[in-house]
Amino acid sequence: MANDRRPDDMVRITTNDLADAFIEEQIASLREQIGSKKVLLALSGGVDSSVVAAMLIRAVGQQLVCVHVNHGLLRKGEPEQVIEVFRNQMKANLVYVDATDRFLNKLAGVTDPEQKRKIIGGEFIEVFAEEARKLEGIEFLAQGTIWPDILESEKGIKAHHNAGGLPEDMQFELVEPVKILFKDEVRIVGERLGLPAGMVYRQPFPGPGLGVRCPGAITRDRLEAVRESDAILREEFAKNGLEGKVWQYFTVVPDFRSTGIKNGERSFEWCVIIRAVNTKDAMTASVEEIPFSLMQTLVNRITGEVKGVNRVLYDFTPKPTGTIEYE
Ligand code: XMP
Repeated sequence: MANDRRPDDMVRITTNDLADAFIEEQIASLREQIGSKKVLLALSGGVDSSVVAAMLIRAVGQQLVCVHVNHGLLRKGEPEQVIEVFRNQMKANLVYVDATDRFLNKLAGVTDPEQKRKIIGGEFIEVFAEEARKLEGIEFLAQGTIWPDILESEKGIKAHHNAGGLPEDMQFELVEPVKILFKDEVRIVGERLGLPAGMVYRQPFPGPGLGVRCPGAITRDRLEAVRESDAILREEFAKNGLEGKVWQYFTVVPDFRSTGIKNGERSFEWCVIIRAVNTKDAMTASVEEIPFSLMQTLVNRITGEVKGVNRVLYDFTPKPTGTIEYE
């Protein structure tokens, strides 16, 4: 890519015309860099990797191989959306790997949050590398690095490069078509490339996924309760005009049960904690004031529809003292 750094005088991409001009320029330079060779991309379905995929599909079509690893910790409907958008609509060359059992078996009984993160990250690289080895003639690795990632790794805040960690014998030339863009610019570019708004404007979602929202040792039944309650929360927020307004919202199912009553009988089940926060940079966060009537709807739906749950709580804690996630 010609531009390795964001030029100081680069105009912020805020309009369709600016986005279209950027896309055209990038496509030309991607075609020049890649020629007739093959490119590999780990496609999570998050904003950055999705925009990179859409850009590369337009630039080099079937020379791009996308690998979507489902680690079993994605939100309800996410793997299906990746397949629908990229394989069915954009006709991408997409390898879908359902590695749920592998991840959940490795995570069984692991309670330490950092250990859980390490296992998820390490296993992800292993699965991705295994898939890459099955492919022939790959010379490039595409990544959804964006400009803040580069600034933060330069300042020593985060070590960012997603490729870091691939085995020694798997060295590819990097292709990073959105690396001089800020997040808001990536979103506009993604929309212009034809990605659905729900994919481009979605709320942040951590790499370890629902794994950090199932505190302590992850079990399949509690994970299912997190996934189902999260889907209900997202549906109700969308219905009530809170989608796109609240920065991040999700549910957590801690590893304890309490006594309750269901269908006239004693129940001994989990609780679902709802978290909904607003922030600019995720360093501090305030709690969203959810209307009481919406809270009641959420309680009714979650206790009525999610298996193994008899209570719903709302987390009123700002960051600090709480972090946004629970682990
Ligand atoms: P915390 O919990 O630190 O979260 O207040 C701040 C923001 O970062 C996200 N987050 C993560 N993202 N990997 C990620 O990619 C992680 O391990 C991780 N932990 C937290 C969190 O969702 C929030 O947006």
